[in-house]
Order: sequence, then structure tokens, then C-alpha cells
Amino acid sequence: MSNLPEHIPNLARLAGLRAATAAAGLDALAIVPGANLGYLSGLAFHLSERPTLLVVPVAGRPWFVVPALELTKARELPFDATFFPWPDETGYGPAFREAIAAAGEIRRLGIEGRRMRWLELEAMRQAGLEAEIVGADAVFASLRMRKDEEELGHMRAAVAIAEEAFSRTLPAMRAGVSEREVAAELTLQLLRGGSGHLPFGPIVATGEHGANPHAVPDERPLAPGDLVTIDWGATVAGYASDITRCVHVGGAQMPERLREVYAVVRAANAAGRAAAGPGTTGDAVDRATRAVIEQAGLGEYFVHRTGHGLGLETHEEPDMKAGDLTPLAAGMTFTIEPGVYIPGLGGCRVEDDVLITEDGAESLTTLSRELVEVGDA
Ligand code: CO
Ligand code: CO
Repeated sequence: MSNLPEHIPNLARLAGLRAATAAAGLDALAIVPGANLGYLSGLAFHLSERPTLLVVPVAGRPWFVVPALELTKARELPFDATFFPWPDETGYGPAFREAIAAAGEIRRLGIEGRRMRWLELEAMRQAGLEAEIVGADAVFASLRMRKDEEELGHMRAAVAIAEEAFSRTLPAMRAGVSEREVAAELTLQLLRGGSGHLPFGPIVATGEHGANPHAVPDERPLAPGDLVTIDWGATVAGYASDITRCVHVGGAQMPERLREVYAVVRAANAAGRAAAGPGTTGDAVDRATRAVIEQAGLGEYFVHRTGHGLGLETHEEPDMKAGDLTPLAAGMTFTIEPGVYIPGLGGCRVEDDVLITEDGAESLTTLSRELVEVGDA
């Protein structure tokens, strides 16, 4: 990753973050390693037992408490900051005391509600911080929901890698092969195809196991006539894809009821994509998919939201679920993934990655939604 082209957007991101922080009535934001720090800095730090904390005040220099061993990397921040490095020998206490003493008054400090830990909060309090602590996930979401062209390029590339890996895995799928072997092959193809760290371990769920939406692949073999649910993704520059497709293992007919279920889920996915567009909401998209499944009498088996925002995190804002009234706008990216799960029978889900455009929605996923048959008949 080289410098200039990345640093320009990141400076704009710092300005955007400050404006959103001020608008939320906060004096500063505290950020720990994760997607928000990556978004702002272009740098990847691990959330570990060594506290690493960037604080961005609305006015004035950001300051960064950082383990000494990470200082060289931290100095690559694309904006000026004051560094408070701490070596393992002394621990982090003195660095936090120095930082808090230099910070000036912070009355309301925004934190990442889903990320900040007691470890960092307590380190700041022990160092004398007396601020009111406020959850500020919405501040970050307001910046990250709409992707720019560079981000969309990464997401398209992550979709392309995932789709290619899936196509290359299909020949390895046949009766007798275990879920775990299919997941291993898919993982190999994802990494070989250029994926960064996988956003999540692939789900491969065959037969009755498909009734569990978050099934973990195990030793059970694919059997003739099984419907297999596969949910996988790749990352490029940290941006994720997240796709689900179902395949039919040849050699026997699928249970007729599952064939019907698949057709309903596929129609629900199409209804969700048709409902998505600028100005509508995740609430409306969710109602569109749910209506199709409820009309088929399967509503009780659709046990999760329709989808979730997608980007630097696999689950981020906005949600496609009842009650999410965030107005959808061009550049927002999320999944549409209705599913039906019938205990004792099986289930399926059809998941696409969707981009809101100026006049509608585009599926970034290009894979067919036809039920693919694998294995020798
Ligand atoms: Co998924
Ligand atoms: Co998903």
C-alpha cells in the first residue's frame, strides 16, 4: 500500500469525522483498533491486551497512546498527532496519565459502543479522565455507510474473488464429500484467488443441517438429493463480500417441499432487490422479502432479518430489518439474504450484495440464482 492516493481520502475522512463528532455534541472520539481506526488511518492494528487508543478531538491535535513496538507504524498516520508510546517494561499507565494531562478538558467523549473495552476505558479513568462517556457508533456509521468509488472498487473485487472461488469449488462437491472438505476447498480457492483475511469461515450445511442458519461445517457427508447451503466471502483491502447460494447434490431427487421452499426464497430475494432504492428503508426492504415468504405460509421459518450493511465489517449499518428507518442513499451497500429453515427437513438462503444507485439498486453479486446441480447423477 503506497502513500499518496490513500492519504488524500483519509484527510477528508478526518475532517468528516470531526464534523460528525461536533454535530453529535461530543468533544472528542476515542477509537481502538478495528474497522473505524482502519477507515480513518489506513493502518491495521490488532485489538490485543496492549491498549492502543487514538483520540480525535473536535479541535486540536489527535493523540495516540500506542505500544512502543507499534510506534513506527503509528507514525504513518496520514495526519498530525501527538504520540504517547509505552514500553512493556513500564506498562501503559504513565502514557495514559501524560496523554490525559495534555488533552485539555473533555466533557463528552464518544466511544465505539461495539468495540471499546473496559481495558481502555479504565486506563483513561485511572489516568484522570472525568468525561461523560457516550456511545458514538452512529457517528462512524454516518461516514462509513456511503461508499466512494475506491471503496466500491474493493467491494466489487471482493465479490469477484468470492464468485470465482465458488465456481472452482463446485467440481469438488459430490455425494460422500464432507461439509468440512467443501469448506476447506472453498477457503483454499478464496485465498488462492487473492482474498485477504476471510470475513468469516465459510458455512457449508447439507441436508437437515441446512435448518441451522449459522451451521458450522462438520464431518457429515453430502448425500444424493441434499440441498446444500453455502455462505462465504472474501476481502479486498479490508472490504468484504458475503454471498449465499444453494446447490443440489445429484443422484436423487430433492424433497419436493425443499424444492418449493427454494423457489419461495429465491422470489423473496428478488422482491427485496426490487424494493431497494434511494429514499426507501431497510424496514421496507425487509417487509418486501417477508411478504413473499409469509404468503407462501413459511413466515415462521424466516428467523432472521433480511440483511445487513456490508463494508469494512461484515455486519455494519444499515440493517435490512423491521424498524430500521435509515433512508437508503446512493453508495450504501448491504446484503439481501432471506432464508427459510425447517427443523428436521433443511433450509436455504439466497444472499446478494447490493449497492444503492442514483435510481435504484444494483446487485454486486453476479452469480446465477438457479439451483446448481453438482456431483454425478
Ligand atoms: Co452470508
Ligand atoms: Co450476510
